[in-house]
Amino acid sequence: MSVDAVRENILQRRTIKPMQYSDRSIDKDTIDDILETARWAPTHKLTEPWRFALFAGAGKQSLGEYMSGWYRDNTPAEKFQQQKFDRLLTVPQQAGCAIGIGMHRDEDERLPEEEELMTVACAVQNMQLMATAHGLGTFWSSGAIAFARETADFFGFDERTRGLGVLFMGYPNCDWPTSDRRPMDDKIIWHT
Ligand SMILES: Cc1cc2nc3c(=O)[nH]c(=O)nc-3n(C[C@H](O)[C@H](O)[C@H](O)COP(=O)(O)O)c2cc1C
Repeated sequence: MSVDAVRENILQRRTIKPMQYSDRSIDKDTIDDILETARWAPTHKLTEPWRFALFAGAGKQSLGEYMSGWYRDNTPAEKFQQQKFDRLLTVPQQAGCAIGIGMHRDEDERLPEEEELMTVACAVQNMQLMATAHGLGTFWSSGAIAFARETADFFGFDERTRGLGVLFMGYPNCDWPTSDRRPMDDKIIWHT
């Protein structure tokens, strides 16, 4: 394994939103390759709490109809924005695919919920890194719709699985974006 290749992969991963994707589709082998990396996330007691709902083809339209409908039904009339409704309706169709993200609690609740949430985030990061290697931008979208119980139901998750958002993926039609972070100096306490 090349240290430089791993570093480059981590640094290159970028949030790129569906409005910046081209209409190039993502083939099934590539999607499978990305999903497979979730399996290898660290998981305490091997609970493997990650769950995913894959929206491609006509499924993307259903997702847009669901999200815009949820927004319409859960927004007071005085706060409703037609522009937001239209964006929610069309955004999934601008993506190569969209992946509903879920966290499943095992029956015995052997671990604190925090641990299971962290594990799912590790799994999503694995997928984002593999997507990057395939030249795909990703966008983890969260917020009120993401966390609503009805959304987990729409994804097809069982009652023990919480929805944690949607991971959109697509080939960018823009230059690969850059990003920045503040230095680590004031975020690390060394005990030596
Ligand atoms: C758990 C999680 C939820 C996120 N939810 C949103 C979101 O709802 N809307 C949004 O614009 N970005 C969201 N993001 C993406 C961040 O905005 C993005 O990571 C940040 O801008 C840094 O950009 P980068 O990913 O290219 O480094 C989310 C990221 C994470 C990890």
